[in-house]
Amino acid sequence: MTQTSQDQVLIFDTTLRDGEQSPGATMSHTEKLEIAALLDEMGVDIIEAGFPIASEGDFQAVTEIAKNAKNAVICGLARANLADIDRAWDAVRHAPRARIHTFIGTSPLHRDITALDQGRMVARVHETVTHARNLCDNIQWSPMDATRTEHDFLCRVVETAIKAGATTINIPDTVGYTYPRESADLIAMLLERVPGADKIIFATHCHNDLGMATANALAAVEAGARQVECTINGLGERAGNTALEEVVMALKVRNDILPYATRIDTTKIMGISRMVAAVSGFPVQFNKAVVGKNAFAHESGIHQDGMLKNKETFEIMRPEDVGLTATNLVMGKHSGRAALRAKLSELGYELGDNQLKDVFVRFKALADRKKEVYDDDLIALMAQSSLEDDDAFLQLRRLRVICGTEGPQEAELTMQVGGEEKFIDATGDGPVDACFNAVKMLFPHEARLELYQVHAVTEGTDAQATVSVRLKLEGVVYSGQSSDTDTVVASAKAYINALNRLVLHRHRGNLSALMSSAG
Ligand code: KIV
Ligand code: ZN
Repeated sequence: MTQTSQDQVLIFDTTLRDGEQSPGATMSHTEKLEIAALLDEMGVDIIEAGFPIASEGDFQAVTEIAKNAKNAVICGLARANLADIDRAWDAVRHAPRARIHTFIGTSPLHRDITALDQGRMVARVHETVTHARNLCDNIQWSPMDATRTEHDFLCRVVETAIKAGATTINIPDTVGYTYPRESADLIAMLLERVPGADKIIFATHCHNDLGMATANALAAVEAGARQVECTINGLGERAGNTALEEVVMALKVRNDILPYATRIDTTKIMGISRMVAAVSGFPVQFNKAVVGKNAFAHESGIHQDGMLKNKETFEIMRPEDVGLTATNLVMGKHSGRAALRAKLSELGYELGDNQLKDVFVRFKALADRKKEVYDDDLIALMAQSSLEDDDAFLQLRRLRVICGTEGPQEAELTMQVGGEEKFIDATGDGPVDACFNAVKMLFPHEARLELYQVHAVTEGTDAQATVSVRLKLEGVVYSGQSSDTDTVVASAKAYINALNRLVLHRHRGNLSALMSSAG
């Protein structure tokens, strides 16, 4: 093994690439930069920042992340062709430490699709990895769908990639099909059979289709893999990827049987988990391991009694270890700026002076409407998207809804559309429907509503509601989220946020033309 000592497991985060591939999880340029900075700060070894040839936006994001990188290696994905690899290199080469990750599907199903027989695929691997290695000294190669590839052929392509200069070989369970013992056996088999396998690092990349991604990754580590590929909150296509927080905390809590270290500062886990949930529009399920709202909640009498006597009776890790504060001090309209900064810092948000100034204004507005502001209210406030900023294309100005037992309900909406304020009066089957109809009349579009979801942030009738909206247009999903003590206002803002995301995506770089034609 090179580059890392025997007991060190490298953490490779692919939230910005595999995670962002999840339908609806598209993130803005600024959001990607913020997440990359947090990943770097928390000690992630390698950040897969995107797929540079996929779009101009991806290329720009990877380039900028590479320029801002501090400690992490910045990696860009490329298919097995020279144009992809050149484009990936053009983006990552700005990083102090850069990596190109190139891949090809090696299972019989994938060889059929690419119409490459075994011999031609071996030649392609040799050609592309050699090309990548001539550009960059840190090359990762992946045989996509490795867990359904014949072992003899897998050994042959892995050997070819190593000989051509790959420094990391990643073994993906692309469809989440493998089982822990099988995952371990595969790594052990490659380490035993492939010449040169002891000179490179093996990585494990698991998907969660059968709920075994974390178990499969840990089994691979036990067999000799020294890099785990994962995402925050397990974000990713279909059932997602191995969750970073699960692997890192399992290695920490069960270090007695998994004696491997990572460089992750685990106290940063909650902060980044909340950030990813907010920008991706994928809320964390309440009972999700490590980062779920209930992960450290003890409801039953027996559990509460045990916890009061000795926390270790029902707690295998301390909330503080993942960045959760033990207190839930209530804030209110008399709380000052310093108290807000301290509270947000406890919750994992470190704000600069300007950002604090802006958040304080929104906090005061919330505290005026809501007597007691809880941690969860502040988290919802922080999740309020930049899509609601003053320079957003669509902005909610005023909303008045008339509803009652006699329908139809009516919404009077004033909305800024590309710099021009517009007003409309619309009806609908319920207040939210009336409101959405009004938005659509002021900003006509063909996007279909795929999801509308509401949940209360805290208890009580003055609780804030967080609303998630997902829209689909020409196969692309756009999500929006917002919170307010008024559910209808939160709904309108979430819908408008999703539309702002759509506008940004479809008119990237040409927003000014759209602005001037909007009137
Ligand atoms: O799941 C997969 O196979 C991938 C590859 C691109 C590594 O994400
Ligand atoms: Zn994947």
